[in-house]
Amino acid sequence: MAFSFSYNFLFSSAILLLLHSTSLVAEARSSVPISYLISQKLFDSIFLHKDDTACPAKSFYTYDSFIIASKSFPRFGTTGSLAMRKREIAAFLAQISHETTGGWATAPDGPYAWGLCFKEEVSPQSDYCDSTNQEWPCYPGKSYKGRGPIQLSWNYNYGPAGKALGFDGLRNPDVVSNNSLIAFKTALWFWMTEQKPKPSCHNVMIGKHVPTEADIAANRTVGYGLVTNIINGGLECGIPNDSRVNDRIGFFKRYGTLFKVDTGPNLDCAYQKSF
Ligand SMILES: *[C@@H]1O[C@H](CO)[C@@H](O)[C@H](O)[C@H]1NC(C)=O
Ligand SMILES: *[C@@H]1O[C@H](CO)[C@@H](O)[C@H](O)[C@H]1NC(C)=O
Ligand SMILES: *[C@@H]1O[C@H](CO)[C@@H](O)[C@H](O)[C@H]1NC(C)=O
Repeated sequence: MAFSFSYNFLFSSAILLLLHSTSLVAEARSSVPISYLISQKLFDSIFLHKDDTACPAKSFYTYDSFIIASKSFPRFGTTGSLAMRKREIAAFLAQISHETTGGWATAPDGPYAWGLCFKEEVSPQSDYCDSTNQEWPCYPGKSYKGRGPIQLSWNYNYGPAGKALGFDGLRNPDVVSNNSLIAFKTALWFWMTEQKPKPSCHNVMIGKHVPTEADIAANRTVGYGLVTNIINGGLECGIPNDSRVNDRIGFFKRYGTLFKVDTGPNLDCAYQKSF
């Protein structure tokens, strides 16, 4: 164990030096796996009701599938200080909780104990097909409605997510709601992947995103509110006291307490323009 730890340490130091010398990356990564920061016990105390009979996702989203999926994204929750790593994981879990919540104001254990209750969007308003997108053309008869922890939607997300993760997202979008490993991977893919002009949620939460001139003009200050802007700013940001934004923040505050980490500044996006 001791040998393997120092070996890993030397190995990652060597990689950092290598990367540093080619100035590709200047961030410190820990070799401590995220399961050290989020145990099964902590996961269970966060998602108190995900396996209730009332939840359509009952027994779908397991701790193991989350941890195994995270191994495909080795920078997730392993970058920066201990507080930064915990804060990133808490922010990710809070956002996926809002996306899949079964909670309501007077729900048992409060509204923020009901994340991961749904695996797919109920009564979608459309097939979420942007037919103007030529790069990721919709497959006839398929719906690109919200599925999985981040509620991946639109052909232009299913296509590239599938390509990155090794499934045909355009022909076979249903996989995201019946394979929990792929489901968690799509959420992590969305979190980790920059889609210009948006930065990645990951880079925002680890303080690596440097606001562009456009960001500054749009008042897109760095913090959890900017992550909300990346995920659904077009509908939720620039609105004072928006109930959806407040729900995202409520989850984050509860999880921050459970992780014993502060949430950082700029929690909302009430005064931000969307991308
Ligand atoms: C996945 O779910 C879809 C409907 O949501 C279903 O048609 C399909 O058979 C399922 N596939 C598997 C492998 O369970
Ligand atoms: C925000 O909205 C909630 C209802 O969603 C309301 O109870 C509360 O008073 C509002 N707060 C402010 C500062 O307007
Ligand atoms: C920018 O956002 C902050 C809160 O994050 C707000 O106090 C300020 O009024 C905003 N500025 C503009 C120009 O909207």
